[in-house]
Amino acid sequence: MSTSYKWVLASRNPGKVREFQAWAKPWGIDLIAAPDLALPEVDEPYATFLENALHKARVISKLTGLPTLADDSGLCVPALGGKPGVYSARFAGEPSDDARNNRALLEAMRGLEDRRAYYYAILVMCEHADDPQPCIAQGEWWGRIAEAPNGKGGFGYDPIFFDEAAGLTAAQLPSAAKRARSHRGKALNDLERLLVARYGISQVPVVSSLLVEAG
Ligand code: IMP
Repeated sequence: MSTSYKWVLASRNPGKVREFQAWAKPWGIDLIAAPDLALPEVDEPYATFLENALHKARVISKLTGLPTLADDSGLCVPALGGKPGVYSARFAGEPSDDARNNRALLEAMRGLEDRRAYYYAILVMCEHADDPQPCIAQGEWWGRIAEAPNGKGGFGYDPIFFDEAAGLTAAQLPSAAKRARSHRGKALNDLERLLVARYGISQVPVVSSLLVEAG
């Protein structure tokens, strides 16, 4: 019989919830998404991904009393001074709308020669709200902004994010290939490395002080 453990994922984005839950399952982690616990939406008031992720992890961990994984991520375009950055979800205003964001970014990039862009993801894992040293993991995925959308997979800016090595947009990549190349995939690898190094174990699920048995 396999043991399962309970963490909370401080995210309401269905695309991300799918990706994180797929990661958590083989580790025996029951990653409960915040909306499934009827938790309030946590704001993202800060100018950096790090501050927003730390804030979300602390707030949700305090509300639930459970270890909490929070992320913040977005697309950064050097030629636009890092925009859309922390405003990626609402680049074209509220409410968040992927197609509108894509159109707004293509418009902002019109005539720009330097179309380099990178997705960035940060993950913060707090054991509890007062955790003095949360695990902080990060990943980047470099590509360029395409001239027009292409592909139906993924979410967000994936139809206009072109991966040069693959020769495809992120929306054209199969999900396993996206996971292997993506900012979130790299951040999850970094998180695994940190968890293993910190707790001196070969698998997260054996850290009984860290993980609460799913009830
Ligand atoms: P967050 O939920 O505040 O982290 O906002 C993340 C936003 O960044 C999403 O709504 C997307 O617009 C964008 N984003 C982050 N990761 C990805 C990805 O893997 N594919 C496409 N868009 C992404």
